[in-house]
Amino acid sequence: MIDAKTRLIGLIGNPTGHSLSPAMHNPMFEKLHLNYRYLCFNVEKNELNECIKALKALNFAGANVTIPYKTEIMGLLDEIDPVAKKIGAVNTIVTNGKKLTGYNTDFEGIIKSLEEYTVPEGKSIVLIGAGGAARAVCYAMKEKKARVIILNRTQKNAKKLAEEFGFEYAGLDKLDSIKADILINSTSVGMYPGINESICTRGQLENFRIVFDIVYNPAETKLLRDAKKAGCKTIPGLKMLAYQAAGSFELWTGKKADLAFMMNSAKKEISGE
Ligand code: ATR
Repeated sequence: MIDAKTRLIGLIGNPTGHSLSPAMHNPMFEKLHLNYRYLCFNVEKNELNECIKALKALNFAGANVTIPYKTEIMGLLDEIDPVAKKIGAVNTIVTNGKKLTGYNTDFEGIIKSLEEYTVPEGKSIVLIGAGGAARAVCYAMKEKKARVIILNRTQKNAKKLAEEFGFEYAGLDKLDSIKADILINSTSVGMYPGINESICTRGQLENFRIVFDIVYNPAETKLLRDAKKAGCKTIPGLKMLAYQAAGSFELWTGKKADLAFMMNSAKKEISGE
């Protein structure tokens, strides 16, 4: 029930129309009888400042931040959690009185997803892609002292990221000859509507034990299907999405979210159930 005490949480981004976050958070609030509602706000760049002021003025409980504002938003907040500051990106805002604090729960989403399947410390990791999602993976893997080689279509982007973190890098063609414990795809290849595409061939996947795809729509990508056939353990992007959502949920409400319930809610939303 929405009443005079309902607290609001907003998603700030552009575009936000396909976000799975309302489908994860609202049923979770309901399940735990918490009087919160999660809404999406498509915000133009020149109105970001006004939007932050509105969060304070309208007494929002907090917000999520998504593409393209995860870095830019940092300059508008009152306080940034040290982990988010180190990463250089905020995906969660918590309101405390009129003070807004920024956090990063994407980072813990990556670590917790991996840790369900393995101990990342000392593992060899092939990271495909060198964009924003790859950067979050690099921070997480640096923290966990994993050994990473970044492979990217455009080698100079891989070089820049690798040098920043002290990792190795190469072009995507290196996939034919490389063997490692874990493969992580941080590119958008395989994402809806390109669901029949994969960044790797079946043969290339035989050189890995665990394959983690950051793509979460579809719930099982071609990369993950092929990886299963090649005998790998697979980690779906939905797992990471649910972990980051659960992290935000706990920051806003102080209550522990049910991870499987959130993941299932997101899955249902994708399949249109
Ligand atoms: P995000 O912030 O979601 O990571 P991004 O910053 O646009 O998105 O990064 C996209 C990454 O996916 C890049 O590493 C990109 O490779 P380039 O640096 O060569 O552009 C990679 N990528 C996107 N489409 C790709 C494709 N079809 N094949 C190979 N790599 C692709």
